[in-house]
Amino acid sequence: MRNDELKGRPKIKIGFVGGGPNSFIGYSHRLAARFDNRFEFVAGVFSRDINKSRKFGTSLGLDTQRCYDDYFLMAKQESKRTDGIEALGIMTPSGDHYKIAKAFIQNKVHIISDKPLTATVDDAIKLEKIVKKHKIVFALTHNYSAYPMLREAKSIIEKGKIGKVMLINVEYPQGYTVGIKKKEEASILKWRLDKNMCGPSMILSEIGTHAYHLLRYVTNLEVKEVAAEVTSLSSELTVDDNAFLLLRMNNNSRGSIWISSAATGGENGLKIRVYGNKGSVEWYQDDPNHLKFTELGEPTKIITRASKTVSNLSLQSSRVAAGHPEGFFEAFANIYTEFADSIQKRKKNKKFNYVHPTIKDGVKGIKFIFAAKKSSDQNSKWIKL
Ligand SMILES: NC(=O)c1ccc[n+]([C@@H]2O[C@H](COP(=O)([O-])OP(=O)(O)OC[C@H]3O[C@@H](n4cnc5c(N)ncnc54)[C@H](O)[C@@H]3O)[C@@H](O)[C@H]2O)c1
Repeated sequence: MRNDELKGRPKIKIGFVGGGPNSFIGYSHRLAARFDNRFEFVAGVFSRDINKSRKFGTSLGLDTQRCYDDYFLMAKQESKRTDGIEALGIMTPSGDHYKIAKAFIQNKVHIISDKPLTATVDDAIKLEKIVKKHKIVFALTHNYSAYPMLREAKSIIEKGKIGKVMLINVEYPQGYTVGIKKKEEASILKWRLDKNMCGPSMILSEIGTHAYHLLRYVTNLEVKEVAAEVTSLSSELTVDDNAFLLLRMNNNSRGSIWISSAATGGENGLKIRVYGNKGSVEWYQDDPNHLKFTELGEPTKIITRASKTVSNLSLQSSRVAAGHPEGFFEAFANIYTEFADSIQKRKKNKKFNYVHPTIKDGVKGIKFIFAAKKSSDQNSKWIKL
């Protein structure tokens, strides 16, 4: 199980761009970086508003010299320091991820960025090229894939315990756009109303990429073709808020994704179900420490987090004994800790496999968003990926 021992590993100096006052996901990133003691948070720019950014950085306990006016200055100044940052977390609107990452990658700074990778396929491909060129580690915070019991589902499938995967369903109902009024949407959705920042579809960028990544991660399968209907169900909303997607997978199994912010009362009801010819697994974010596992002809078993028979992957993603609940923050922290592991292995020139989502997952994610939107724009025609 994970803990905060350094075991001789030096702490990695990290800075952040984005995640300022009242941002949605900034606190989760900063907390995740602190969780297992692997990073030292030393620099940042948290808002486009210089005063807001400085005030916020200081309130987080940063040295005022290292609360920068903008990310260009931060990249330049940090690269000149002998104790400059080695890693950067990005949690700004998605349309800026490429430009920000590029400014730091040129100085060999490793990147952990929020999803979707970018707002265009072009930016995603350019980003992948510079990541490869500069041999940096790039992690993407598809945080749901780091829940221990979700990882147990992956291990069960890899061991062949449910047989050949035949059906996959991922759903993610939220309800925050129900009843939204035109006059208030800008204050609620902010940059999400701007396609240059959010990409071609709000709902696909927001939670569609998470659902798509989860489905690939748990099953080790790829989507071959998608047919989608992406719509706006909330009457005064400018952007889309619901999508149904049908999927043809590379092993000929069939999948479906339903994502929505128009599901009244929906909170963060992420659920994945995978059915094979010998069994099935089912995981639900509302009950993240349990996994349902059914073998053909047998009653359903509930496997608990950190219990005796779970895989190493699942156990190593846990921190506390079975029965004590772990949740969203711990899963988020797993991605940061695995990012730290990757950086330290990369420094030693060791060969290793990434445990966390990477730039490749990011590029696939943005291509998927565009394919699904294209399908929807063509009356749900099947589109190849
Ligand atoms: N992994 C998840 O579960 C999850 C959840 C929500 C959002 N996200 C993603 O995280 C990113 C941010 O989303 P959010 O909901 O936190 O947005 P937000 O609007 O709540 O916060 C964005 C923050 O970035 C700051 N910012 C914007 N441009 C900046 C710049 N150039 N320099 C410095 N700071 C800048 C803003 O001041 C703000 O504080 C997006 O890519 C989004 O898709 C991921």
